[in-house]
Amino acid sequence: MSRKHIFLNNAATTKIRKTIAKKIYKLEKYYLNTRTGKASKIDKITHLYIHKVTQILKCHRKEIIWTSGATEANNMVIKGLLKNHEKVVTTDTEHDSILKTLKIHKVNTLLLKTHTPYTLITQFKKIIQNHKIKLASICYVNNETGIINNIKKIAHICHKENIILHIDATQAFGKLTINIANTPADLITISSHKIYGPKGIGLLYIKSSLIPQITPLITGGQQQSIRAGTLPQQTIIGACAAITAIHKNLKRTTSKITKLNTFLLNKLKQTFKTNFGYISGNKVPHITCMWIKNLNSTLLIKKLKTITIANKAACNYTSTYSHKIKTITKFNKYRKLSFRVSIGKNNSYCEIAYLIKKLKEIYTTSINPLFQEKQ
Ligand SMILES: Cc1ncc(COP(=O)(O)O)c(C=O)c1O
Repeated sequence: MSRKHIFLNNAATTKIRKTIAKKIYKLEKYYLNTRTGKASKIDKITHLYIHKVTQILKCHRKEIIWTSGATEANNMVIKGLLKNHEKVVTTDTEHDSILKTLKIHKVNTLLLKTHTPYTLITQFKKIIQNHKIKLASICYVNNETGIINNIKKIAHICHKENIILHIDATQAFGKLTINIANTPADLITISSHKIYGPKGIGLLYIKSSLIPQITPLITGGQQQSIRAGTLPQQTIIGACAAITAIHKNLKRTTSKITKLNTFLLNKLKQTFKTNFGYISGNKVPHITCMWIKNLNSTLLIKKLKTITIANKAACNYTSTYSHKIKTITKFNKYRKLSFRVSIGKNNSYCEIAYLIKKLKEIYTTSINPLFQEKQ
């Protein structure tokens, strides 16, 4: 009997809520856009949905710029804000939409090395003593380890030193409560498809005083000329609905995911004893990086067949193993073994139990080549 596919890679993407997919489809009948004369029905609906998002983020609607996703929002920050060799400080575990953009554009970059997931603040303080920095770009929650960076402390330092702070909240929004009042950043990146919304849409919150400083990536008219192009109102409404729903259900979803993750880790500890390890610390329960001694993650992923987990971020698909686990040198020796389980709102105990069962089976039956693969 073929088994239903089990998706435990929710940090890569999530399944759009059925209600949101239906809503987008229904709204397609309102195809008139803003530029065709008086405010159309779709404009009015979009206005209402965006209003809800501004209440959640506690910001002004003009401070929200709609993009094609978090990658574009991150690009907009780097390419739009930094000029003439101005310096940026970031970490070596950022998403490639930050790291590759900085590299390709030869931006004057100071890289905080996350030898362990916890050394960030000390290094940050040291670096800013010796350099004049324009921008700090730090992700809130790491996409491979789930580790939460101390953004409040970083924000405090940045504001004291007059450094603009950008937070990549792609993996944090919907897992932590994020708004401008409790997350005092100047720029915040959010992606819709990570929170059960449609793909191809995301947003960059830009503090109003910074807007005139941004050079647009895509020029033309709309969105205060910062990001031109006809607004995809139906998808924006979908993204707004996803933001509203995840915000409303945050406590309940987090509680469910915490229980599932605890169940998974406890069972794996019982089963594999000291052969099992994972990156712990101040982290979200949704994403956990783990390893089982002698079990190569690439082969493990192949053998899991109907279960999707990951051993690197989707943006790293050309490399064999995670570059982040490599940079966190403490865990480098587990690089070829480490895999990420990212649990979402739709996962169940049954699915987690099945993953555990399969891991046990693969571990006990795979003597060759898994056990002989050089670690
Ligand atoms: C931390 C982080 N930033 C940015 C992105 C890019 O997101 P998008 O797919 O919306 O471009 C991702 C996607 O995995 C991510 O995890």
